[in-house]
Amino acid sequence: MGSIIFIILFGSIVVILLCLTSVFWFGGLLLPIFFKGGPFVPSSNKRMQTMIRLANIKPSDNVVDLGSGEGRFLIGAIKAGANFAEGYEIHPGLVVYSRLRAKLNKMQNKIKIHRQSFWKADVSNATIVFLYQLPDYMQKLQDKLQKELPIGARIISNTFEFPTWPISKQEEKIYVYEKTGQ
Ligand SMILES: C[S@@+](CC[C@H](N)C(=O)[O-])C[C@H]1O[C@@H](n2cnc3c(N)ncnc32)[C@H](O)[C@@H]1O
Repeated sequence: MGSIIFIILFGSIVVILLCLTSVFWFGGLLLPIFFKGGPFVPSSNKRMQTMIRLANIKPSDNVVDLGSGEGRFLIGAIKAGANFAEGYEIHPGLVVYSRLRAKLNKMQNKIKIHRQSFWKADVSNATIVFLYQLPDYMQKLQDKLQKELPIGARIISNTFEFPTWPISKQEEKIYVYEKTGQ
């Protein structure tokens, strides 16, 4: 009798924990609707490698990923030799996961992940920005980045273009932009 009660109690706790984890994870996936950004659809490995190559990362570069997901671009940028990498992400599960990945890669001193909307991101020190967001937000992102990035900064956008910013390089559906003095 005692062991049956134990099994029922243990089973109930496991089910409750699974439900809470699902609410936490799947609820987080809805957050972009409220924070105005793209859903969690990670860039493919091939796309990521092309984007990092097109970024032409140098040891002086500070990299920002607006909507950093699992933190793959941040880790990739540090591996490619960047000085520092910052991510902005609103999904709390992805923030925890990407911080853990940075730690496991012993990059916690080189990577910072903000649990914050990228609309509030400070990009004034960024020299490279990675983007994979939705077309609906590209005009507003263009306005923010043209206003706030330092001259010479490059933006590498997966799949979606800025409406009026001239493209400086393109490979398949990856677009590179440069902030100039004009
Ligand atoms: C298409 S995924 C890109 C993930 C990663 N950068 C990549 O390319 O693999 C977009 C990410 O942006 C995040 N996101 C959406 N709106 C956001 C916002 N306003 N602020 C911060 N992150 C946001 C989503 O949670 C998601 O992880």
